Amino acid sequence: MCGIVGAVAQRPVVEILLEGLRRLEYRGYDSAGVAVVRAEGDLVRSRAVGKVAALMERLDGEPIDGKLGIAHTRWATHGVPAERNAHPHFSGEWVGLVHNGIIENHVELRKRLQDDGYRFDSDTDTEVIAHLIDIFRRQGVSMLDAVMAARCELHGAYAMAVISPDEPDTLIVARQGSPLVLGLGIGENFIGSDIQALLPVTSRFIYLENGDVARITRKKIDIFDVNGERVVRPVRESNASMCSAELGDYRHFMLKEIFEQPQSVTGTLENRLAGDHVLPALLGVSDALERLAQVEEIQILACGTSYHAGLVGRYWIEANTDIPCNVEVASEYRYRRQPPRKNMLFVTISQSGETADTLAALEKIKENHGALATLTICNVAESSLTRESDMALMTMAGPEIGVASTKAFTTQLVALQLLMVLLMQAKGADKAKVAQMVADLRKLPALIEQVLDLNPKIETLAERFIEKNHALFLGRGELYPIAMEGALKLKEISYIHAEAYPAGELKHGPLALVDSEMPIVTVAPNTALLEKLKSNLEEVRSRGGELYVFADREAHIVAADNLHVLEMPHVPEMLAPIVYTIPLQLLSYHVAVLKGTDVDKPRNLAKSVTVE
Ligand code: G6P
Repeated sequence: MCGIVGAVAQRPVVEILLEGLRRLEYRGYDSAGVAVVRAEGDLVRSRAVGKVAALMERLDGEPIDGKLGIAHTRWATHGVPAERNAHPHFSGEWVGLVHNGIIENHVELRKRLQDDGYRFDSDTDTEVIAHLIDIFRRQGVSMLDAVMAARCELHGAYAMAVISPDEPDTLIVARQGSPLVLGLGIGENFIGSDIQALLPVTSRFIYLENGDVARITRKKIDIFDVNGERVVRPVRESNASMCSAELGDYRHFMLKEIFEQPQSVTGTLENRLAGDHVLPALLGVSDALERLAQVEEIQILACGTSYHAGLVGRYWIEANTDIPCNVEVASEYRYRRQPPRKNMLFVTISQSGETADTLAALEKIKENHGALATLTICNVAESSLTRESDMALMTMAGPEIGVASTKAFTTQLVALQLLMVLLMQAKGADKAKVAQMVADLRKLPALIEQVLDLNPKIETLAERFIEKNHALFLGRGELYPIAMEGALKLKEISYIHAEAYPAGELKHGPLALVDSEMPIVTVAPNTALLEKLKSNLEEVRSRGGELYVFADREAHIVAADNLHVLEMPHVPEMLAPIVYTIPLQLLSYHVAVLKGTDVDKPRNLAKSVTVE
């Protein structure tokens, strides 16, 4: 999704801005641009469709530079990817602006501004903001006041950064609904839509709150809240390393992140397991067990891959506690009336902690006082979800750059296991059972290592998929969401249409699609439903379908014509969803590489979806 970088410094800033944009590429985008106020005192920009590299090429031919600048990667929402729609947008020669988010009342504003004589150069919702600000600055107020006045007329979500030759030493930013962080340098300051963009220049950050507007100069930062009152926001030192956003020896971030899973899972378990139980302190509050003891219902909300983690979580929680658990995609939940619930724990799951729909669902439940407590399972410590929730269970996956989520997903599953065990402890479950689960969790990193060793075999298997247009993924029980995640991974990065079905549903429709052109991928650990699954596989084989089965070595599924079996290590039943995710990630990855797609930045998708 769109990325923002800005800088005010004593040195030329274009190089810093471009490096920031490059580091935001993982978010997904279709065009890029940069604008500066030059030493000559004029506002100039350069924009290009495509990658940041295309913008850099353009700048090589026609360089611009200055000590105050803003830059942007755009992911189209209003208007096709085209140079005229790329940010920064200008109002005449006096206002330059970059924006993330969506302005919902842009049609009315555009009409009003056109009636006032403003000419529009783009199809975007963003351009109205630039002209609105211009109206106020023409009245002779400061840029800060102009931005404050303009934002009162905007409905929707935004993070924006504004520059003007009127004030060649000042960067103005505002935040409502979309993330924005200020980076503090020495005699220079920066802004970005996430800290990744700014790690080469600083490790000290201020996270703006919703409604904040800030005036940033080289030496000073003034922040004003939604009521225009001056406020002080804490400065946070980040220990995020720059290296985690580097590829190292890997060809793609996705492969690197798949192979990082033993470490990210270890990190998520570290300091959280005592001898035979889970430490309640991991929820970041001192009375975690008391709070969990009161829980009578759980509602899990998430989007995309994180939603699939939630679906697995429901199987686990309901299998091991008496607490009913619902799971829903946040974009649906936020617009639906729900009957009042009793003592509900409201759990959001998110890699980024900034997904607009998930945040909106959390806001809704908080506004209605509909939950006993809110808890987020999240990978970004300073994200909006973490800050807005009562409790946070952090996944320790480290920065995830590939758009297709891998290590964030498996660490979310680990976090859900930890939460489930904590709920069991809070509800007084059998101690031996808890101890067994804790012992099993400790085996997880080694089991993942074993599955990663299957990589060469999976790479060979992938060759059989590259000519296919469709694929079916089957699973049963808590492995059904894993089949869903496998199908999502394949379609996201290889563009092969893939669907997941609970294997028992085959005969109610999808069996009609089965022929030799339809590969059917199945996960078959040695669980209670294995024998049922085997019958489902026979239904497919007898109709000429080509089966690819990742099967427990003790499952006794024997390879035959049209039945390819890849043997998996034997795993404790509760860990199967985590371990069986790995081969499906590798399969999608290799298919995509063989097809030559942009694995880390698949077309039309964004890493962090900060607009609705
Ligand atoms: C986007 C990403 C997915 C991710 C989803 C939810 O669609 O491409 O990989 O699963 O957003 O993101 P979150 O950060 O909330 O987990």
